[in-house]
Amino acid sequence: MNNLPLTFSFFVICLLNHSMSNHFGPAVYQLTDPVDHGEGPTWDSRTGLLYFVDIFDGRVLSYDPETSCINAITFNGAVTPVIPSQSDPHLLIVGVNRSVYAVEWNGKGKIGATKLLTTVSQQFPTSRFNDGKADKEGRLWFGTMGFEGSTGVAPNEGVLYTFTRENLLSPPAVIAPVNISNGLAWNKANDKFYYIDTPTLTVREYDYDNESGKVSNPRVVFDLRRFTTIGGFPDGMTIDKDDNLWIALYFGGAVIKVDPKTGDILQMVAIPAQCVSSVSWGGPNLDILFVTTSRHALSKQEKIRQPAAGSLFAIKNLGTHGLPAFHANIIDRIDLH
Ligand SMILES: *[C@@H]1O[C@H](CO)[C@@H](O)[C@H](O)[C@H]1NC(C)=O
Ligand SMILES: *[C@@H]1O[C@H](CO)[C@@H](O)[C@H](O)[C@H]1NC(C)=O
Ligand SMILES: *[C@@H]1O[C@H](CO)[C@@H](O)[C@H](O)[C@H]1NC(C)=O
Repeated sequence: MNNLPLTFSFFVICLLNHSMSNHFGPAVYQLTDPVDHGEGPTWDSRTGLLYFVDIFDGRVLSYDPETSCINAITFNGAVTPVIPSQSDPHLLIVGVNRSVYAVEWNGKGKIGATKLLTTVSQQFPTSRFNDGKADKEGRLWFGTMGFEGSTGVAPNEGVLYTFTRENLLSPPAVIAPVNISNGLAWNKANDKFYYIDTPTLTVREYDYDNESGKVSNPRVVFDLRRFTTIGGFPDGMTIDKDDNLWIALYFGGAVIKVDPKTGDILQMVAIPAQCVSSVSWGGPNLDILFVTTSRHALSKQEKIRQPAAGSLFAIKNLGTHGLPAFHANIIDRIDLH
């Protein structure tokens, strides 16, 4: 009899390990308490930190999955996105309203020096940055959207800009006009670019020239309207090792996996929050999908029914993994002092 519990527990562990890696499919974990409007997750494998933003509370947050510790710095304005730099993981590029800042922060302690790098879209004074990424070459792709009031988003005031060291003061508009600039991804071969203008309910694919950073020949490769039982709006997006797209559905309460070659939905994972805003691969093996959500637009009643809305989530056991996020190469730390 003495042996039995031991044998049994050993068996249980084996079973668990087995099931974790194979049979039961995705598992969704709530990682943090809710924030108001989580967005823009990005994993830095050099520091093992997941950065994301809380747009209207003006915060950049860091989450350490090893310790579950969460830290934040606050700015005066709407904050998004946040991108660590190539030359130094503690040099962050941060969008505040329509401006780009370089900020010293190690994700834990106090904020260091900050420097205003540039301000865009003077012609749309109430617009602000929304989603953004760095490309493989370290250029920044930051898009904007019009002011969101009680009647919706001011139309056609969004612009997708690319920033380099050379063009910081007058970055070119690569895609304009748009309504709500979102969801950027590049394929593994780095010759295709995927983009979401949220109200269009579509994902567009472009030919991408990595030397010039130019995009061309847009075509719709995914149209959410084909799927009449799935709600919401395509928001943030990432890509996996097989060039499938993972898309957050705002108001849709889910993340979907899309094959851009066929326009089909391959998988859907429900998240216990209606407003799912963005996704990023992370963890040591890049096989955890971090998911940001929002409670900003929910009514009092909805907030009660969705207590986890606004939290950071992780989806594990998806059976695939992502590629490392790229980092910004537009300024060095020495230029802040
Ligand atoms: C951002 O915009 C808000 C609202 O207009 C303003 O109060 C704030 O000062 C702006 N912040 C920055 C850093 O420009
Ligand atoms: C933006 O939204 C408005 C209102 O729905 C629409 O008329 C316009 O075509 C949209 N603009 C783009 C660039 O899709
Ligand atoms: C573009 O990609 C090619 C092939 O991978 C590479 O050799 C080249 O350095 C890249 N261009 C830039 C600007 O990095």
